[in-house]
Amino acid sequence: MSLDSKAVRREFALLERELGGQPLTYLDSASTAPRPRVVLAAIGRYHAEFTGNVHRGVHALASEASEAFEAARHVVAAHLGATPGEVVFTAGVTDAANLVADALALGPEHEVVTTQVEHHSNLLPWRKRATVRTLPTRDDGCPEFDALESVCTPRTRLIAVHHVSNVLGTLAPIERITAFARARGIRTFVDGAQSTGHVPLDMRRLGCDFFAFSGHKVGGPAGSGALFVREALLDELATARVGGGMVARVRDGDCEWRSGAARFEAGTPNVEGVLGLAAALAWLARLGREDVAAHSALLARQMYEQCARLPGVRVLGSTQLEQRTPLVSLVLPAGGLDAQSVARTLSDAFGVLVSAGQHCTHPLHERLELDATLRASAWIHNDEGDIERFVGALRGLIA
Ligand code: ALA
Repeated sequence: MSLDSKAVRREFALLERELGGQPLTYLDSASTAPRPRVVLAAIGRYHAEFTGNVHRGVHALASEASEAFEAARHVVAAHLGATPGEVVFTAGVTDAANLVADALALGPEHEVVTTQVEHHSNLLPWRKRATVRTLPTRDDGCPEFDALESVCTPRTRLIAVHHVSNVLGTLAPIERITAFARARGIRTFVDGAQSTGHVPLDMRRLGCDFFAFSGHKVGGPAGSGALFVREALLDELATARVGGGMVARVRDGDCEWRSGAARFEAGTPNVEGVLGLAAALAWLARLGREDVAAHSALLARQMYEQCARLPGVRVLGSTQLEQRTPLVSLVLPAGGLDAQSVARTLSDAFGVLVSAGQHCTHPLHERLELDATLRASAWIHNDEGDIERFVGALRGLIA
């Protein structure tokens, strides 16, 4: 069965809004996705029916909140193809990468191998603590993954890589990378920010040690997210953040940490964020993960093919369509309107919402000698008509 994108669109209150008298063509989900009604309802229910702190209270509402919070962990685990005990709730990918950098006790003597394509959240947390080495980049923006062997050294502690690039929209060969790393005792961190709402996930098949994603890119609330930590690592990692909730016992001058994922969840968590995130993922499961993935693949093809035909426009990333998700970053013709002006006009005159700039990937834009690119990113609420509206309006602006 294929996804009924018209019915899916009705599940988003935001998409009832108009801009300049036009219905919204929301093509900016890589930045932040619209939230479906089920997410608004889940957050509302927590506030209206069972507000309570989790894992601390004994009263009825606190118990209900704790049960809902742990049920959410099961939903996230099912989405990731992981066990609930391997799911750590975080504030998103940035938070998760900082947590992993601390948990691995990285220092300047350690090397982290990554690519020039990563958004800053999958670069700066490593650079702050360790020595970062990057793979070379091809002229289409894709990393040279074949260079892993020559870039890794005996000091390499971690390979940190995107699952889907937020600029190229292309999938990285994660299984190949994790097999390479495992054979050398190197840990792997996969940034799933741009893949989690598009492709079915299975942590065992990907073979990574860590996998992070942000709730707001899968229809959940901002400030929510989760980090998969492979079970065998949970108790050997260093403690990262400390505070209430992650300790079993505190005495003067001494502490006993809790074991498992709980050790990484200090302080009162973002309860409503977690419940909203689980509502988004449960809804995706009801739509059918395979159908969501098939819809993404269809949009990816339509988007790439239509954009590649625009005169004077260059589409970054691989030309191999099976490696693409529905995200394109476009280099606009020289001498015409700049990407930021085009994005603003698309919004105000056509109701088409896209991104413009360097998309938190300065090193990639510097390597490609680009000031800015125009990025369109689709999700389950989009259909071919949205892509046609975007491409038609853009064609007029760059003519
Ligand atoms: N990483 C986010 C983006 O690509 C902010 O827009």
